[in-house]
Amino acid sequence: MTDICDLIDKDGGTQKSAIFHDQGIYDLEMERIFARSWLFLTHEGQIPNIGDYVRTMMGEDEVIVVRQRDGSVKAFLNACRHRGAQVCAAEAGNANIFVCPYHGWGYGIDGSLRAVPLEKELYKGRLDKSTHGLRVVPLVESYHGFVYGCFDSTAPSLKEYLGEMGWYLDVWMDAAGGAELIGPPSRSILNCNWKVPSENFVGDTYHVGWTHGAALKALGAKPHRLGNRSLPDGDTGLQITTRHGHGLCVGFDGGPGMLGAVAPDILAWQAQNRERIERKLGSLRTRFYGCHINSTIFPNNSFLWGTNTFKLWQPRGPGSIEVLTWTIVEKEMPEDMKSRIATSMNRLFGSAGMLEADDSDNMESITQLSRGFVTRQGRVISQMSKGDDRQVPGMPGVVGDCAMGETAYRGFYRFYREMLLAGSWDEIRAGDSVWSDELLSLTLQSQSVERRK
Ligand code: FES
Ligand SMILES: [Fe+2]
Repeated sequence: MTDICDLIDKDGGTQKSAIFHDQGIYDLEMERIFARSWLFLTHEGQIPNIGDYVRTMMGEDEVIVVRQRDGSVKAFLNACRHRGAQVCAAEAGNANIFVCPYHGWGYGIDGSLRAVPLEKELYKGRLDKSTHGLRVVPLVESYHGFVYGCFDSTAPSLKEYLGEMGWYLDVWMDAAGGAELIGPPSRSILNCNWKVPSENFVGDTYHVGWTHGAALKALGAKPHRLGNRSLPDGDTGLQITTRHGHGLCVGFDGGPGMLGAVAPDILAWQAQNRERIERKLGSLRTRFYGCHINSTIFPNNSFLWGTNTFKLWQPRGPGSIEVLTWTIVEKEMPEDMKSRIATSMNRLFGSAGMLEADDSDNMESITQLSRGFVTRQGRVISQMSKGDDRQVPGMPGVVGDCAMGETAYRGFYRFYREMLLAGSWDEIRAGDSVWSDELLSLTLQSQSVERRK
């Protein structure tokens, strides 16, 4: 029996290494986290027409996500109701009907069972087709075009689940004219646990200058970055964690620096956009536009804004994941700019990207070493900047005073623990007041986010 309280200590400062490679913990995560959280499915722009679909995973459950005749999006388990064969084998496409390859049952794009070979002769009127449609994912919602699904019908709405995180997301998902993904996603397998990249993207700016030192040098990064020699002058950024484990690190003046040669016209594009965002959201939020941001939406959906990668870490057992990578761009950008950003993103974070390769080594070593019996009894720490977490007026969530901290790690594992312990969403909701009390107990400290000239 897994002792969850021992896995993650209550104040979120340490975790037992066993969390990175343990079948029992993994099974519990599938039940309590992946079957109850909102999980990224696709972007609406990837399935614009009636019958357009993508095949994806929710935890270890395979689903088909389909654009409906009324414009809505539905998702179904990709398992035939007859004997359970995979109904749709293609990654994406357009369909009028999904036909199971085993015995030929046919399902409409709404998931209903439409056709059964030799139905009259063999079932003789005893098969109720109306109760044998593909099993439906009960909750599917879109947040500014980003489509998420949830298996637990008692979960909060997607908007509530994102909660305080929406304040940050809206800057580029909405006010800047919206965002879209360039697909289809590239796919690769990593021998790592799903939490390792999720925690890295939610809160690890610390590794950048060190892990990526050689690659950054080749890319012409600023000297302070290389080998973590020093913090940047002035802009050390912030780190934020919000209710439900989401979080981000922001480097205010990082901008699209790593996009190298494509940066000058992106900077001009952003300058032109900044005014309208300010009119809509005010100056504080506008400061988050055009920054470099790394982020994870709990549990396994991460992105970098500024290097424009959008990731899904699909669990494949305790020691393996499938990585799906899209390029994320502003919808209204010129097509040529989008395509240059996609090329640059793929060089850095595609399956064979320079920075992807650096990160993959660490992610695999953490996971595989945690198989060792003695190693897995030990603990890893996320205590950096622990005493400095605070509230900043106007900024939702807990704010750490530097992008290089572990505030967002602690928030991620705080909620991870809460989900593993809770028997239902009602119990998780009961924790909202604890979160509010914890926020109130933090020092209130204003933050200057003046733009540097
Ligand atoms: S398993 Fe699909 S038709 Fe038999
Ligand atoms: Fe990295």
